[in-house]
Amino acid sequence: MAEKRKIVVTSALPYANGSIHIGHLVEYIQTDMFVRFLKLTGEDAIYCCADDTHGTPIELKAEEMGISPEELIKKYHKEHLKDFRKFLISFDSYYTTNSAENKEFSDKIFNELKKKGYIYTKEIEVTWCPNCNRSLPDRYVKGKCPRCGAEDQYGDVCEKCNATYTTVELVDPYCTICKSTPERKPSMHYFFKLNMFGAKLDDWLTKNRNLQPEIVNYVRNWIKEGLQDWDISRDGPYFGFKIPGEDDKYYYVWLDAPVGYVASTANYCKKEGCDAEKDYWKSKKGRIIHFIGKDIIYFHFLFWPAMLMGAGFNLPESIYVHGFLTVNGEKMSKSRGTFFTASDFAEKYNPEYLRYYFAKMLSRKMSDIDLDFADFEDSVNNELVANLGNFCYRVLSFLNKNFEGKVNDIDENKKLIEEIMAKVKRIRSAYDDINTKEAVKEIMAISDLGNRYFQEKEPWKMIKKDEQEAHRVLGLCVNIVKILSILISPVLPKFAEELQKQLKAKDVSWDDINFRIRDHEVESEKILIEKVEIAEEQKFPLDLRVAKILDARQHPNADKLLILEIDAGEKRQLVAGLKKWYKPEDLKGKKTIIVANLKPAKLRGELSQGMILAADDGKNVGLLTVEKARPGDSANFGELKNNTSQVTFEEFERIRMKVMDGKAFYKDKELRAREEKVRIDSVQKGTLK
Ligand code: 2FM
Ligand code: ZN
Repeated sequence: MAEKRKIVVTSALPYANGSIHIGHLVEYIQTDMFVRFLKLTGEDAIYCCADDTHGTPIELKAEEMGISPEELIKKYHKEHLKDFRKFLISFDSYYTTNSAENKEFSDKIFNELKKKGYIYTKEIEVTWCPNCNRSLPDRYVKGKCPRCGAEDQYGDVCEKCNATYTTVELVDPYCTICKSTPERKPSMHYFFKLNMFGAKLDDWLTKNRNLQPEIVNYVRNWIKEGLQDWDISRDGPYFGFKIPGEDDKYYYVWLDAPVGYVASTANYCKKEGCDAEKDYWKSKKGRIIHFIGKDIIYFHFLFWPAMLMGAGFNLPESIYVHGFLTVNGEKMSKSRGTFFTASDFAEKYNPEYLRYYFAKMLSRKMSDIDLDFADFEDSVNNELVANLGNFCYRVLSFLNKNFEGKVNDIDENKKLIEEIMAKVKRIRSAYDDINTKEAVKEIMAISDLGNRYFQEKEPWKMIKKDEQEAHRVLGLCVNIVKILSILISPVLPKFAEELQKQLKAKDVSWDDINFRIRDHEVESEKILIEKVEIAEEQKFPLDLRVAKILDARQHPNADKLLILEIDAGEKRQLVAGLKKWYKPEDLKGKKTIIVANLKPAKLRGELSQGMILAADDGKNVGLLTVEKARPGDSANFGELKNNTSQVTFEEFERIRMKVMDGKAFYKDKELRAREEKVRIDSVQKGTLK
């Protein structure tokens, strides 16, 4: 028999200078589900992670808070652990890169690479602030990105185009401490010969079938363009590890950060009596699986594997890359109430809802995922609660009420059993492929089959005629409930655990997915999952309302503008650039749609209390029209509720509503006012502004 694989799974190490937010959670939840699945199927897998504690962002944050970096990283370590626990992220080791083990492994790898001739020193120019009398690494200097020209970028990587560069390459640099213009100064730096690894990396990328092809392609392109050697040292003062034999030079944070994966494994082994190198990182049995976001591909597909190759460690078997999280279709925003820290979110909603929603959205694809709150509400209420929760609860409560919670025999319904087992197989390979989207879909389909079976058999009627048969129907249902509890456990560990408690099923694993429950007694049933109501601020950001135009006249100071008197439940004045498209007399009496919560503004001296919505196809502009709806009625996209809190024009502009087939849409939801579909004048396809 082949020796059992020893698997280390990691998520990217979060920086110890800020709170975990729901964007981070995509990755931790994705990784956690995968590890839970591996363990469920009997794999010897551990989940290792740590705080990323070094480098200038940490120093800057500590300075800002008036504490030492050590105090800062301690504070965030505690906070991160607490947040992860809330979301049921179950690490086998959650460590810190500021640890003795990490220093030891960083030195070991560095020395090994040096010994093999992969590291050399070279004098380069660094950025020096004469005013602060110090060198300025990475984030202590800002300027324009040398590649894309984006303003206000840090000295190491551009947040706009992801280019990496050195501080002296920044255009128009300034010191972030004192804002003065820095100078250049020569300094000896350590370099890693990344360039020598091009062919080997290319080979690894092409041979490794586990990597996502879309990523392999573009990493190979980077290799083709030629790899630059990598500057791995920074001049002091710098919060990090000193380079062996140096007084004032430190490892660049990105050197010791991924080594943190190894150190975290060592931390696990310290407790469990294994050896990080011998059992995992250098062993033939060892398998390394990383989960990362798309912003750190370069580090994980080039620098890190090259370091591992050079130092004789195992290479990652898989590196799963996910996209970013948007909320309601846009970047998370504090002002729109869509930026949630993990702890904010956990206060409002059951964390398992988010696990479920992310599971439903995630697959092997690298595309961004969207937390659409209307869809979130829908998924929880219609799938988790109405399908899964309902099936489990109704089965157990029926069994308790009518059969004292006892299962004797089961209905040997071959067709249903086979159908379920076929789905179980697909669910297993979906989980294996980190395709939780597919896994969850099939799990819900099994629950749906269960519900339908229960509904069709009508045990509440059957029990009056053939009690035994009704009892067997329930027996089969209890088996399905148990199977569901196992299948969903990587996604909803707490729900599954509590359900299994009610089922009196202990220590279940994937192998317990069968129909073998007979002569068994369950506990009393409890409702495990409840409907969710989304909070006000997560709704559609605009307040769209029906308005009747009472009067329209020329703006006294602007040729193109009209002044409209409208009735939108209450009287208001709007200014609109409609002169070219509508005659004032045609507008009078028209019922249209306005944005009622736009911040009032003066346009050429005339007050506009809101804005009229108009469709635009580049040639024509047309207003929206309703017939039956009354002034003041709310107009809504699908079931999305309007938000009445005021928005600025800039915020309004970022909301993308569109026109298709002469109808108004936000995402795929059509605009209606009281059931009535809103029509649009003269524009078939375009935008809505
Ligand atoms: O991008 C980040 O948030 C880094 N702290 C990730 C480090 S992952 C690993 F390489 F250490
Ligand atoms: Zn300065």
